[in-house]
Amino acid sequence: MDYRFSNRIASLQPSMIREILKATSGKDVIPFSAGNPSPETFPVEAIRSFTGAILENDPVAALQYGITEGYEPLRDKLKQHLLTRFGAGKDFDNLFIVSGAQQGIELACKVLCNEGDAIICESPSFIGSLNSFRSSGARLVGVPMESDGINVDKLEQALKTEKNVKLIYLIPNFQNPTGATTSLEKRKAIYALAKQYGVMILEDNPYGELRFKGEDIPSIKSMDDEGLVIYVGSFSKVLSAGLRVGYVLAPEAVMQKMVVAKQGEDVHTTMLSQLLAYKFMTEYDYDGHIKHIRAVYLRKCKLMTDSLDGFMAGKVTFNSPEGGLFLWCDLPKSVVMLDYCKKAAEKGVAVVPGTAFLVDEGDPCNAIRLNFSTPSDEQIVRGIEILSTVRP
Ligand SMILES: Cc1ncc(COP(=O)(O)O)c(C=O)c1O
Repeated sequence: MDYRFSNRIASLQPSMIREILKATSGKDVIPFSAGNPSPETFPVEAIRSFTGAILENDPVAALQYGITEGYEPLRDKLKQHLLTRFGAGKDFDNLFIVSGAQQGIELACKVLCNEGDAIICESPSFIGSLNSFRSSGARLVGVPMESDGINVDKLEQALKTEKNVKLIYLIPNFQNPTGATTSLEKRKAIYALAKQYGVMILEDNPYGELRFKGEDIPSIKSMDDEGLVIYVGSFSKVLSAGLRVGYVLAPEAVMQKMVVAKQGEDVHTTMLSQLLAYKFMTEYDYDGHIKHIRAVYLRKCKLMTDSLDGFMAGKVTFNSPEGGLFLWCDLPKSVVMLDYCKKAAEKGVAVVPGTAFLVDEGDPCNAIRLNFSTPSDEQIVRGIEILSTVRP
């Protein structure tokens, strides 16, 4: 059969980088490459008992179709939570439930971008979003990421010169992959530029609750007095990634279009998952649980940075994230990064080449991304020790 794929998908090629990652998907590999939350953070007992209670007391709500916007009590609870926790939400905004933040990101692009329209992205950025934008036919414009967020001068330059810019996509807290947090000054400057150039911002905040150091910084959505920001959040990193529940806070008119688009994708997010998320927010010690998760990630992050200091001092430089799941590690210029990643995989440690996250994979980059949430504590120490012996 001569399969004739759509133009949108035909142009997406498996890159060499992804092939390296595939080669490391064996069981015994130390997984510094994943982005999974630590299994230690899943409230398994609570989920078991909540599931039992839902099926006992409200089986029809869990098993019947629901409305596309999502479970009303969960939507209300989240609106309240976003307002008190992140200062996000104005009278013109509304919130709906999606099947993970990934779907919210894809829907934002779907309702705003025609083929060839531009989306400005931090470079590097989250692969899942970049690929979703690419497959929709949007044109990606990468703006370099710095230790305190996107380069604002280059962002302005892109806004001035690029045609049909529809979105600025940002991950302001503990960015995937760099771990960097966008400073308050930059958040304000980015919002002012979006306003000046009449471009919407897609603020992706799946890691916002995972701050284990420093002070919270107001979300860009909290500055949104003009209805320019679509804010996407998720239960993946605070409750369970597999339940697939996320949410979108957006100006009502934008939300309405996103809801129509969602209808054609999956009708609604799994009701049982939504009911569980609601119980998690209302009948569980949510704040205590977040405190527990932060302590787990503080420990794991410190273990990884201490191991890097112990085994690889002077050989690599890395950031010190204030939250999230990732370390961004620069290799010396003399090291060929892709060779290093291949050799590391052969020795049983999977890391992600930094180039995988670039808007243009051909741009220079000598960094690797290390994830500290998925491996066990023992694997963190052993894995870094092995990485220190890799000679590309
Ligand atoms: C920055 C970023 N946005 C969105 C997502 C997708 O999250 P979800 O599981 O809610 O779809 C991820 C997942 O790792 C991510 O890193």
